[in-house]
Amino acid sequence: MKLKLALAGLMIALAPTLAHAEGDAAKGEKVYKKCKSCHTVKKEKNKVGPHLVGVFGRAAGSVEGFKYSKALKAKAAEIGNWNETNLDEWLANPKKFLGGRSKMTFKLKKEQQRADVIAYLKSLAK
Ligand code: HEC
Repeated sequence: MKLKLALAGLMIALAPTLAHAEGDAAKGEKVYKKCKSCHTVKKEKNKVGPHLVGVFGRAAGSVEGFKYSKALKAKAAEIGNWNETNLDEWLANPKKFLGGRSKMTFKLKKEQQRADVIAYLKSLAK
């Protein structure tokens, strides 16, 4: 009887986490390998894409010396700072998110991978 109650409690506690994709920063570090050919989080150095040092919470389109696409520049103020929500939309489909041609041709289709890589970027921002 006691065990049943404990199990019921556990299920209630877990329900919200199962409801939507929670990011796992450790898994996200692996997903991040896909970004490495174009980005670095290690130093403020631009590659094909702008550096991602402190990108979580950073203003969109704000890296000095990086030539962003017109579409990103035009939308930067509207995007504001990068957070879970806009990063998720961005990574799913940059072109759709901007409503114009982005220089980032890469898409991360799997929702869980997006949640994980965002959790990783967030963990670096702390
Ligand atoms: C093929 C190269 C390439 C890959 C792979 C790539 N990106 Fe990008 N990324 C870019 C380019 C180029 C831009 C600039 C986009 C623009 O100006 O429209 C960019 C921009 C960004 C921005 C906006 C930065 C800012 O300063 O506003 C974020 C965030 C970002 N990328 C995250 C990622 C993440 C996370 C991954 C991996 C899951 C990734 N990118 C994979 C090339 C890439």
